Amino acid sequence: MKEKVVEIKQMFNEEIKSIDNIKDLNELRVKYLGKKGEIQKLSPLIKDLSNDEKKDFGKSLNETKKEVSKKIEDLLEKLESKELEKRLLDEKIDTSLPSTKLPLGFVHPLTKVRREIEEIFVSMGYDVVEGPEVEFDLYNFEKLNLPKNHPARDAQDTFYVNDEVLLRTQTSPVQVRTMEKSEGEIRIISPGKTYRRDDDDPTHSHQFMQIEGLVIGKNISLAHLKGTLEEFAKKIFGKDVKVRFRPSYFPFTEPSIEVDISCFKCKGKGCSFCSNTGFIEILGSGMVHPNVLKMSGYDPEVYKGFAFGLGIERVAMLKYGISDIRDFYTNDLRFLNQFNRKGGLEDEA
Ligand code: DAH
Repeated sequence: MKEKVVEIKQMFNEEIKSIDNIKDLNELRVKYLGKKGEIQKLSPLIKDLSNDEKKDFGKSLNETKKEVSKKIEDLLEKLESKELEKRLLDEKIDTSLPSTKLPLGFVHPLTKVRREIEEIFVSMGYDVVEGPEVEFDLYNFEKLNLPKNHPARDAQDTFYVNDEVLLRTQTSPVQVRTMEKSEGEIRIISPGKTYRRDDDDPTHSHQFMQIEGLVIGKNISLAHLKGTLEEFAKKIFGKDVKVRFRPSYFPFTEPSIEVDISCFKCKGKGCSFCSNTGFIEILGSGMVHPNVLKMSGYDPEVYKGFAFGLGIERVAMLKYGISDIRDFYTNDLRFLNQFNRKGGLEDEA
């Protein structure tokens, strides 16, 4: 009986030598250790043996089982690590392969136009200064020569936090904040968001953006205002554009001036786009009112200044022929994609 066991062991030892993969090893395991395997097959023979022999046989059968399983486990471990190594080698990533191209973002048309305007003024020596969007009534109105109950406030109704704090209706309060902090000459522009209690329609939005400009110096005159704004208009809309200055009214400037550019649709001849006037209004400006200078600590006898304010959306709409201001804010990719690198605007984010 014992010889049978030895024979099986030898057979197993012979067979395991040629095994070099996990699949064959599993088959070998079933063949020797399975329910109907070679070792199990010997179990029934035990009943025909004497008690002594039974013990002996049982022991050698168990030992063989253990030995066979250990050899199988050891080899399995070896084969597994070999297969892992092979897989790692096979699956090595080729980092020199070109990757899939992810689509690049691009700046929003309003950001593009804001940056363009900033660049024009920075190249003329202006600093860019920002101010708060939640502003005091004092800075948004009072110190700009619009005391409480001034009729011109009607055109700039806004969202109030309380009687003294509001969402700014214009970037002009940055003029006041800058003058209060400065002495002597100033040359700044201030871009940012502004708010008004307007019903949204193609040309109005309760939230929009402006850029404010302020120049203060001892010999600043209307001629500087004209030269600066003419240069700006030609840089942003093209050198062939005609610029027109018109008297107007703003409480914080005296005299006040509105600036128009010749209509680029009809080249000044008159069409429905420019209401047959040949011109389109682009910004408000003027010489800083002596009261405004005084309220911010400047002596109007010594210092003069000019200021201007323009809507970024308005410039973008004119520049790119956009007819509905709401298109800027609704994040509709069909609209925005026109301004990707293949379209009119080229900056990446
Ligand atoms: N703040 C004015 C507005 O929102 C625009 C403006 C006009 C600004 C004249 C100025 C200015 O600084 O001098 O309508």
